[in-house]
Amino acid sequence: MESWVADIEFERLGSVTRSAKRLLLNPLANYLPASLLRGLLRWTRSEVAASNWADPGGWRSMVISYHGDPPRGIDKILVKGGTIPMALRNRRKLAGRIIARLIDSVEHEDLVHVLCLGAGPGHIIMDAMQQADRRCETTLVDLNADAFDYGREEAAKLGLADRMRYVHGDVRQVQQMLDHRTDALEMMGICEYLENDQIVSIARSVSELMLPGGAIVFNSISRRHGTDRFFRRVFGLEMIHRSPEQLQALFSQAGFGDYEAFSEPLDVYTVVVGRKLQPPR
Ligand SMILES: C[S@@+](CC[C@H](N)C(=O)[O-])C[C@H]1O[C@@H](n2cnc3c(N)ncnc32)[C@H](O)[C@@H]1O
Repeated sequence: MESWVADIEFERLGSVTRSAKRLLLNPLANYLPASLLRGLLRWTRSEVAASNWADPGGWRSMVISYHGDPPRGIDKILVKGGTIPMALRNRRKLAGRIIARLIDSVEHEDLVHVLCLGAGPGHIIMDAMQQADRRCETTLVDLNADAFDYGREEAAKLGLADRMRYVHGDVRQVQQMLDHRTDALEMMGICEYLENDQIVSIARSVSELMLPGGAIVFNSISRRHGTDRFFRRVFGLEMIHRSPEQLQALFSQAGFGDYEAFSEPLDVYTVVVGRKLQPPR
């Protein structure tokens, strides 16, 4: 791993825990009857399950995973020991560091602007803004306006409120919302919910507002977490798993390239940075 991300304190799994998950826990989660597992989660009043049922893959369950210490016993097990929640926290740390570096490396002298699509409350960009030396403002787009109430409170606590602009909308219609030159496009935690043609169309629209050299940051998700069947059957979560190379091929159709990929240690998420290339003459 590059030296400037080598000091990040990631969560890891020991070999015994990995084996126990692969041989016992994941098969149980994946193959016990879904109705039984759902009943258990309902009976134990799991907040993680309730938030996923209300909004599969939404920001609330993600925030519970980010905080990492929910009050209820069943959620403690899911959030502290689950591979996806651990990998989500790793992804947040990695992406925050990477975006901070991108903010600091922007070549012009004006205020840096980052566009975040499927931003939720904006934890990742707020982490990056705190770490960056340069001042940055951001536009955050999300389908769920509740995320913004929560995000505004968090931003106010961090003294970032005046630099966050929240736009309620569907990223698949992003071309109708764009009115701002942007230096970096952040699409963390969203590509797994979008079809290929939607990703290409979004990237093309945003690319028009970027100068060559402008950055894009997105993540891939692999099946290494071993619980896709559990998430689909029990939580109703349908994620599209793609390799970093498959996503890079999509963003390349919109004029991006020069990719660098950074995997977190559980190998579930890879954060990829690309650059808008000079258009061919
Ligand atoms: C897993 S969360 C990721 C949040 C944040 N980017 C992060 O990684 O911390 C996915 C977010 O994408 C939003 N979302 C999903 N589909 C969307 C769409 N078509 N348009 C806008 N937002 C969308 C959800 O509401 C949710 O807040």
